[in-house]
Amino acid sequence: MRGREDLVARDQMERAQDGVECPRRIEDESKVAGLGADVLTERGADACELGAEPALEQIDRLPLELELPALVGLEHRTRAGAEGTVVQVGDLRIEQEEVAPGHEASLLPPGRMASVTRGTEDRWAAWLRRRRSGGDEAVEARTAAGLAKLRDRILENARLRAGETLLDVGCGNGLVAFGALERGAGRVVFADVSAPLLDESRAIATDLGLAERCEFVEAPADALAAIETGSVDVVTTRSVLIYVRDKPAAFAEFFRALRPGGRISLFEPINAFGKDERRREFLALGVPGLETAGAKLDALFEELQPASDPMLDFDERDLMREAEAAGFFPVRAEVRLVVEPNEPRSWDGFVNSSGNPKIPTFAEAMAQALTPEETERFVAYVRPRVEQGLGRWRMGSAYLWATKPG
Ligand SMILES: C[S@@+](CC[C@H](N)C(=O)[O-])C[C@H]1O[C@@H](n2cnc3c(N)ncnc32)[C@H](O)[C@@H]1O
Repeated sequence: MRGREDLVARDQMERAQDGVECPRRIEDESKVAGLGADVLTERGADACELGAEPALEQIDRLPLELELPALVGLEHRTRAGAEGTVVQVGDLRIEQEEVAPGHEASLLPPGRMASVTRGTEDRWAAWLRRRRSGGDEAVEARTAAGLAKLRDRILENARLRAGETLLDVGCGNGLVAFGALERGAGRVVFADVSAPLLDESRAIATDLGLAERCEFVEAPADALAAIETGSVDVVTTRSVLIYVRDKPAAFAEFFRALRPGGRISLFEPINAFGKDERRREFLALGVPGLETAGAKLDALFEELQPASDPMLDFDERDLMREAEAAGFFPVRAEVRLVVEPNEPRSWDGFVNSSGNPKIPTFAEAMAQALTPEETERFVAYVRPRVEQGLGRWRMGSAYLWATKPG
């Protein structure tokens, strides 16, 4: 397992190579009391005490964005305050629960969300709030602990210094952006295409008394015209380029927004790794008696996310090439590929979560694509395999960090 000491040592070595100063953690805890990043760290510690797997294992098994339903192994439960709503995922119209203000699945504890009022909900917000985990609080806590480690690594790679301006592209509900504030960023620009998620981040920032250090911009990663050229010190992004078709344009925008000497730091799942094997196994392709059901499900997921989907059409080498082509130098990436035993998980948890915001849950996919008889046969085969943890977990991911030459 890679320890924090190793990260620091690696960082010091690279600083020596780059001649760039290391980020300094804020010593005065009173300045950062109550921020999301602290809460996440505490939650991570709790998860370890409860016997969760060690750090990197947690990251590996996170419900990172997959092109198939997420591997989440705990019970789905309906939450208090739920009321019905409809969300559109591609061509699918999905009825699902709405959660009243104060009951949102969030990386912050419920008390922190008191002033957040829920407006309309888009697919991005619905996924981050509930559909990623299936709505289970234990899964949320485990996810938060794992995501905290990703966030820390992104910010360590960015070498953020106190007082700097950081732009977090595709900020979601503020995982990386609030982490940057906790580390003493002078100003953080939250950018996203989702107005509901920007509203949520704004409400959290106001709640925490951080609003004057924050700016909120509704813009896509590949068209950041609202951000002045050369106006930021650091650009971060996590699991966002997987939704951006024109990645070279996004890298060009990151480059333009940065001052000379500024840095990018990002993390992306590499779904191209293991895609065919994942599909074969998840959809029971080739299993006698399930050919029709498997083919129908395969066709549904293929239609929603064909091989040309921006989530599937790249790997870490493309990211390296695109970063360098945009003008970044030096550029570094670290890739992690795993093929591991699956964990046993509850059927409910499995069928009620979705791998990413653009696709249905497994339950929704079966309801959409299969007849009741096909569903029954399919469930009879797949359910015990899910519950016994048969099969293999495959995941690829990459960190990339780079500098705009000064
Ligand atoms: C998986 S979430 C990640 C959120 C956040 N970065 C985090 O680490 O928790 C993906 C985010 O990307 C945003 N997004 C989707 N398409 C985008 C685009 N073209 N440009 C910028 N953001 C986008 C979504 O609204 C969502 O907030």
